[in-house]
Amino acid sequence: MSEANKPAYSPGLDGVIAGESAICCVDATEGLRYYGYGIEELAPKIPFEDVAWLLLHGELPDEAQIKQFAKELAESAPLAGGMIGVLKSLPRNMRAMDQLRTAVSALAGFDPDIGKFDHEANLRKSVRLISRLTSVTIAGWRIRQGQEPVIDANRPLAGRFLFGLNGKGPEEWRVRVLDTIFNLYAEHEFNASTFAARVTASTLADMYSAVVTAIGALEGPLHGGANEQAMTMLREIGSPGKAETWVKNRLAKKDKIMGFGHRVYKKGDSRVPVMRGLLAEVGKRVGQMNWLEICLELDRVMEKEKGLFANLDLYAAPVLMLLEIPSELNTPLFACARVAGWCAHVMEQQDHNRIIRPRSLYTGPKTREI
Ligand code: COA
Repeated sequence: MSEANKPAYSPGLDGVIAGESAICCVDATEGLRYYGYGIEELAPKIPFEDVAWLLLHGELPDEAQIKQFAKELAESAPLAGGMIGVLKSLPRNMRAMDQLRTAVSALAGFDPDIGKFDHEANLRKSVRLISRLTSVTIAGWRIRQGQEPVIDANRPLAGRFLFGLNGKGPEEWRVRVLDTIFNLYAEHEFNASTFAARVTASTLADMYSAVVTAIGALEGPLHGGANEQAMTMLREIGSPGKAETWVKNRLAKKDKIMGFGHRVYKKGDSRVPVMRGLLAEVGKRVGQMNWLEICLELDRVMEKEKGLFANLDLYAAPVLMLLEIPSELNTPLFACARVAGWCAHVMEQQDHNRIIRPRSLYTGPKTREI
């Protein structure tokens, strides 16, 4: 093929518009909006359940709607005995994301609407998935620790997550902080996991298959796995004074610095100011301001050295650690929030479906004979 005839190609689909969506707008200058609501306002003010409803329905719920939604989430929370059996049958040393992916696949077997694609069936499946991802994450964690699951169905999801780790009532401020984190993670347009979910949904596969696909894509360190690795990095650095040398050494080796850079945000991630505020608040409450100081110093050095800015995961990692959430659960927790966005996208895709099937630019040998 001559250079002139080569079709346009963008590695990593950088800048490519791969579909239409009304759910969320990620704009490098105007920031992040869910159905038009700015994340800075939405995330700290509105409970995650309301945000999840917004993503599924396009409007914030009224009092009766949110009451009904909370009831349905609570009814969906308990796990069937067979599901607990599945979790108990898995190896104790299985990674949390592998366990979550396997568990969500098994959950399909416990959903009476499986195989139905109409909007109402997809809505019912969305409620079960949003509720049960948190249930399987915390139950799976307890089982891996050799303990029985504790699922308090009546708590809102952030509270259910924290209570489910140790069966103790979390303080109100911890629940509020985690609730805000759930909101920040709930949705982000055509990120890798959501796009993967839409590709699967576009074949008219079931919503569970789409969510399993999304969990697989989320796991990698360039996407959702970054927050766990960011915590490992912060622990290794240990103090703000060591950050500059640490970063320069890594950059000299051409290593990626976890929690920095973004495909869309080139002048800073619009979710970071809220997350940074949470790190300042939580650090002050528990008397550990060093994590914020390290992050700020990393931010300064990375901007100077590479012109790159922190993304949400850099600041999320220490907040989750200070909330006493094991860092192995950072990415599963991300999934527990993002599932609201995944389900909204699967419905949007299947409501206006055309199979997603792009082309590749062939670079193999010319036609030849055997
Ligand atoms: N550390 C060091 N260098 C980085 C970097 C990072 N975190 N992120 C990007 N770069 C470099 C790239 O290697 C590239 O360098 P080059 O021009 O010398 O090849 C340059 O910056 C531009 O990269 P860009 O095109 O903006 O990255 P991308 O859009 O292909 O990838 C990410 C985006 C998020 C995958 C990438 O920034 C990354 O790997 N970040 C770390 C993982 C992470 O935090 N993921 C969570 C995302 S919310």
